[in-house]
Amino acid sequence: MSFRLQPTPPARPNRCQLFGPGSNVKLFAKMAASAADVINLDLEDSVSQSDKDSARANVIEAVNTIDWNTKTLSVRINSLDTPYWYRDVVDLLEQTGDRLDQIMIPKVGCAADIYAVDALVTAIERAKGRTTPINFEVIIESAAGLVNVNEIAAASPRMVAMSLGAADFAASMGMQTTGIGGTQENYYMLHGETRHYSDPWHWAQTAIVSACRTHGILPVDGPFGDFSDDEGYRAQARRSATLGMVGKWAIHPKQIGLANEVFTPSEEAVAEAREILAAMAQATAKGEGATVYKGRLVDIASIKQAEVIVKQSELIAG
Ligand code: COA
Ligand code: MG
Repeated sequence: MSFRLQPTPPARPNRCQLFGPGSNVKLFAKMAASAADVINLDLEDSVSQSDKDSARANVIEAVNTIDWNTKTLSVRINSLDTPYWYRDVVDLLEQTGDRLDQIMIPKVGCAADIYAVDALVTAIERAKGRTTPINFEVIIESAAGLVNVNEIAAASPRMVAMSLGAADFAASMGMQTTGIGGTQENYYMLHGETRHYSDPWHWAQTAIVSACRTHGILPVDGPFGDFSDDEGYRAQARRSATLGMVGKWAIHPKQIGLANEVFTPSEEAVAEAREILAAMAQATAKGEGATVYKGRLVDIASIKQAEVIVKQSELIAG
């Protein structure tokens, strides 16, 4: 390992990020009462152009007046290629207080995108005397975003989380699909006559996870569009959790329980991790760096793997 230690990501539950359009005010109280860890009020692509100004005003009022309890509260601003984003940042930062935890910047393509928003946010924070700096989360959802994912992760100390946005990413890459995440009908290998489905999101996900882990940021899986397909959502979420992602978006309340289920380590997994730690403690006491647990090798690396699971479960338990 490099002598530079891997930074620790923010210690907060981030199993489910629930989205709702800023134009749909009747959803806000339901979102606040939900079991999602993170709330994303949207000013971007779920809001039509004619509603951009009113949605911004709705969201500011909701941040200021609704009881969001202990949830992380985030607002997705419009992307930097629109005429809306600077007004989103200015009005949000000027007209809300410390209850707004973070803003989500969509369609990020390079570190300079973050720099631009950071400069504006920093000036407003100073002018307003805001005491807790606003955090940034970003969406990687373009070819450029993925090519520059590492510099984006390193772009600002405000960076706390990064999501893969499957739909815009697929469009930017020229992928032949209209599905938002999950299994893609034409992405298979043939073995004899049997189709073996592969995962077209895998490369993007691992690139995001490695950039995030390098810089102490939470990697998050984005939306799964077909909210009638619980098993499809579970399968996608399980793959993401296995790759190191900490949570997934919900675009409908049905998906909140699924995300919480998958990204909360199971009792069995936690019990096994604790047993591995105990087995390694015994081995260490005898001066051994490796031992056998349930017929398989465990060693010093297994301590770190087990600690990932135990720490995650302790974090979620609060
Ligand atoms: N958050 C909280 N509650 C929600 C919700 C959300 N995102 N979406 C729907 N609900 C509520 C509905 O108000 C309804 O409540 P009720 O039982 O009290 O009437 C209940 O859940 C069932 O909703 P349903 O009728 O199945 O959905 P819908 O047709 O009203 O809405 C969507 C479907 C997809 C339009 C809606 O879920 C939505 O806007 N999702 C978020 C989209 C978004 O933010 N996209 C940007 C990120 S990709
Ligand atoms: Mg998008």
